[in-house]
Amino acid sequence: MTQSRRFHLGSDHGGVELRGELAATLTEDGHTIASTAGPAAADEKADYPDVAVEVCRRVLEDEGSCGLLVCGTGQGMAMTANRIPGIRAAVVGDIFSARMARAHNDANVLCLGQRVLGSELAKALAREFAAASFEGGRHQRRVDKLMRAGS
Ligand code: RB5
Repeated sequence: MTQSRRFHLGSDHGGVELRGELAATLTEDGHTIASTAGPAAADEKADYPDVAVEVCRRVLEDEGSCGLLVCGTGQGMAMTANRIPGIRAAVVGDIFSARMARAHNDANVLCLGQRVLGSELAKALAREFAAASFEGGRHQRRVDKLMRAGS
C-alpha cells in the first residue's frame, strides 16, 4: 500500500452488507474508517440521499479524506453526492475507471452498487481507488473547469 487514507462510509439498506465488507477490507489494508453512516441492517430502510449528504459533509469537513457510498446500484448515491459543491463522486464498475476516477478526475467519493457488483470485484475497486492518487498537471485545469461548470 502506498498511502493510508481516511474514509467516511455510508450506505442505505441496499448496500449494508457490502459496506461492512468494504470497511473490513480497507481496514485490513491500513486505511482508517473515520465514520460510518446509514442503517445497521438491511431491514432498516433508509433514503440514500440522506446518507449521501451526511457522508459528503463529513468528507468536506475532513480535508484529504474520501467517501465511500454504497446503495443498490451506486447511482442514487452519486447523483446526490454530485449536487454538493466540492464533491466529485464516481460510480465505478471496473478497475481502470476506479484508478482513473482518482488519477484524472480527483474523485473524492466512490460509489458502488451492491446489487450489481460481486463482493470480490467491489473490494478490488475500493482498493484500487484507495491506492490511486490525483496526477494534477493538465488534469488540475480540467478539474477546475469541472468544478466551475454550471455556475
Ligand atoms: C433502494 O431500493 C435502491 O433504490 C437504492 O439502494 C439505490 O439503488 C438507488 O440508487
